[in-house]
This record gives sequence, structure tokens and C-alpha cells, in this order.
Amino acid sequence: MAASQLVKLFLTIVLALYFNHASATLDFIKSSQLPNLDTEPLTRIAFGSCINQTIQQPIWNAINAYHPQLWIWLGDNIYADTKRNMVLLGPKRNVGPWRPSPRFVPVSNEVMAKQYALQNAQPGYVQLKQRTHVVGTWDDHDYGLNDAGKEFEGKADSMRLMLDFIGEPKDSPRRKQDGVYAAYTYGPPGRRVKVFLLDTRYNRDAKWSDGDVLGEAQWQWLEHELETSDAQIHIIGSSVQVVTHLSELVQPFFHTEAWGHYPTARKRLYDTINRSQKGGVILLSGDVHFGEISREDCAIGYRLHDLTSSGLTQGVQKSVKAPTRWLMKLAAVFVPRIRRIVGPYSNRNFATISIDWEADPVEIELQIRDEDGDRVHKPVRLRLSSLQPGANGLPLGEVRTGCLTEENLVWHAKYRLAIVFIGVPVLVLSYIGWYLFRRSRRPWELSIKKVD
Ligand SMILES: *[C@@H]1O[C@H](CO)[C@@H](O)[C@H](O)[C@H]1NC(C)=O
Ligand SMILES: *[C@@H]1O[C@H](CO)[C@@H](O)[C@H](O)[C@H]1NC(C)=O
Repeated sequence: MAASQLVKLFLTIVLALYFNHASATLDFIKSSQLPNLDTEPLTRIAFGSCINQTIQQPIWNAINAYHPQLWIWLGDNIYADTKRNMVLLGPKRNVGPWRPSPRFVPVSNEVMAKQYALQNAQPGYVQLKQRTHVVGTWDDHDYGLNDAGKEFEGKADSMRLMLDFIGEPKDSPRRKQDGVYAAYTYGPPGRRVKVFLLDTRYNRDAKWSDGDVLGEAQWQWLEHELETSDAQIHIIGSSVQVVTHLSELVQPFFHTEAWGHYPTARKRLYDTINRSQKGGVILLSGDVHFGEISREDCAIGYRLHDLTSSGLTQGVQKSVKAPTRWLMKLAAVFVPRIRRIVGPYSNRNFATISIDWEADPVEIELQIRDEDGDRVHKPVRLRLSSLQPGANGLPLGEVRTGCLTEENLVWHAKYRLAIVFIGVPVLVLSYIGWYLFRRSRRPWELSIKKVD
């Protein structure tokens, strides 16, 4: 074979390979921009939840500017279900405890796929994916229905679409589970972070049942993944809040979902963590449309932080009108702070966890950030050495949040909001009623006197 023929053959093969695998080649070029988290320690994590796929999402600029190595979706990654307009009266009533008609309705698979396509094409998110590893779990609205649990019929289809969105390979074992839970280990030995993403929907028992949240298979998985972990830091993402139980304090006005509604399951989660005797456990959560950090001192043998970031676009502040906003601010004054050590921050936000492996002892910083990426509170810095079984002694000057839960607060603290917002108006109205009644009686009393 002549040399020129050889060159031609070579070129033909290269071109054929190139055109057949152009997309694979692009994938390769793209993935080479991603940090190698097998060898590089994980130092910058960002996460968020609750994003409206149909509107502009300027917050990605701030997230990209933070240069996270890892992005975690914590749920409501799209709003899939449709919220109907409020109907107060009649057979189509969709608010209140005895409503015959639902307020939220699920959408078809086609519509859900389109909604994911919208989110996937958001320019800021496209940019993020080029340089950042992306993992995630879901919450109710991307699961398919507001506040839904294991009874939701569309869950298998929703799961397939969610895993497509997150880029889960077609042959991944994750696709064969009952739920989207997953665990990832990052970094070299001695500087390892293990990230657990829970599924709090697929197997969750009915509301108000004090039943299960994870389902037996997921419990076994969690226990096994914790026990066999050789990581120094363990980050556990749960779509709904774990440590704090706001609903207990704001009844009957508001309702938020939380592990607090499932005290038996929450105890099991704490016990599972404690039994593993692993250090550096930090919880992440979303769902509530504001950011906060809460802490539980008495559950796992050391202080357990729950970093909540919610409202990438859905901050409470922007979604309610001015009078309601003021009313909510006023209401917040009367809600006891049991577990909260930071917040609430109710504008759009994301949160970051940065790890300083060079510091001695290793330091972890928790931070909620606004739409511009600015800090919204003093950084919460934790020493990894203090997040270890048996290290419950608090550094001097730090306040213990106590072992008290919302459930076992004294009644006048627990129901303070209801007392102020129902009790006080009732008292004032009764007084006015009594006063008017007295006034109307007086001429009659006088006339009796006259007869005397
Ligand atoms: C998302 O934005 C669209 C367009 O502004 C709006 O109609 C829809 O109600 C929003 N969804 C949510 C869940 O806020
Ligand atoms: C955690 O586990 C240890 C050792 O098994 C036990 O002594 C301790 O009481 C547990 N702590 C909690 C809060 O359950």
C-alpha cells in the first residue's frame, strides 16, 4: 500500500469516527472541564430548591460566580403540578379542611417532560453544568403533586423523567429502585465527603399518620451506606426539613411539611446516624420558601445542623402581596425560636458549604446567600473535631438550643401565635360587644329608676 493510500485510509477512519461519535466527543470535551473529584478534595458545594422553570432565573449568575464543584438539587426542581384558583364556596370548593375538590392537579408525562426541558435549557443552568457536577433529589412539586407521598399514582413515570433530567445513565441501578435516593463519595482518602440524597416522597406514609418516611429498602440502604463510609464529612440532603417543626408553632394558620410530622421516623433517622458513630454529619433541606439554619443538640451525640435553603425563585417575600407580607413579619415575631440559629431569610436564596481541609482542625462553613451571592448572615463555622460522637461539649459562649422540641413546649409558648391572632381579636370583639350592650341597657335602667 502506498503511503498516500495509508494517509487516506487513516483520514477516512478518523473522519468516520469523528462524525459517528461527534456527540460523544463533545461530551468528552465537556466532561474534561468538570473537576476531578476522585483526586481533588471537595471544598465548595452549593445547593438550592424551589425554582420556577418558566421564568428568568438570575440567581444562577451568583451560583456560577461562587464556582461550586458540586451542585445539589434539593427538590421542587420544577413546578410540575397545576395550582387551581382558589374557590371558597360551593361544590368546587378547594380550600379548607372539607374541600370536595383538590387545589393541585398533576400534569401529563408530556407536559412534565417539557417543563424539565425548560429548566434544562435555562442559560445560567446550562453554564453551571459545564463546570460543576450536578446531583439531586426531588420534593413534592417535581414528584408530581403538592404534599404527595407513596399513594401518588404517577410516581414511576415522574421518577423516570426526573432521572433523565439529572442525567442518570439509562442502565443505572438507581432507575430500578423504589425512589430516587442516592449516595456519592468525593475526594481522596482522608479528605472525603459522602453526600446522601434521601427520597422523602416515594415511600412516605399518609400525612398525620406518624408513619414512615423512607420505606424499608431505603432505610437499609442508608444504614449500610453510613456504616461502610470512610468519609470524614457526611452531608445528608432531605427535601423537607428534619430538625425544625414550624407547623407545630404556627397552627392553625400555616402548614409546612417536615420530619416533625413523623416523629417515629425522625427518631429512627437520628438513631441510624448515631448508631453508625460517624462524624461530620450535616443535614440539608429545602421546601419552605425561606432560608434558615437550625440545630438539634440532643439527637446524635453531637450538634446536628440543618441548613435550609429554599426559594431559588420562590422566596416568600416576592410571592405574597404587601399587606400579607407585613402580617407575616408580625407573625414571625410571635413564633418562638426553638431550634433556629440563623434566619429566617425570606428572599430568593441558595446556600453554600465550604470546607477548609487545610485548617487544623478542619473547618466547615455554612452560608445562606441572596440572589447576588452575598452572605445574608454571619458565617456559621463548624470545627469538624466538634462534630464527632461524644463531642457534645459546646465551646464557651455558645448557646445550647436545648433538648426541648416544639411539641413539648409549654402551651402558651407553643400556641402563642394562635393566642395573639385569635385570642386577642376575640377578646377585643367581646369587649366591644359588652360595651355596646351596656350602653344600650342604660336608658332602660334609668327609666326603671324614674318609676321608683
Ligand atoms: C411560574 O411562573 C409563571 C409565569 O410567571 C406563573 O404563571 C406560575 O404561577 C409560576 N409558578 C409558580 C409555582 O409560582
Ligand atoms: C448514641 O449512641 C450512644 C452509643 O451507642 C449512646 O450511648 C447514646 O445514648 C446515643 N445518643 C442518643 C442521643 O441517642
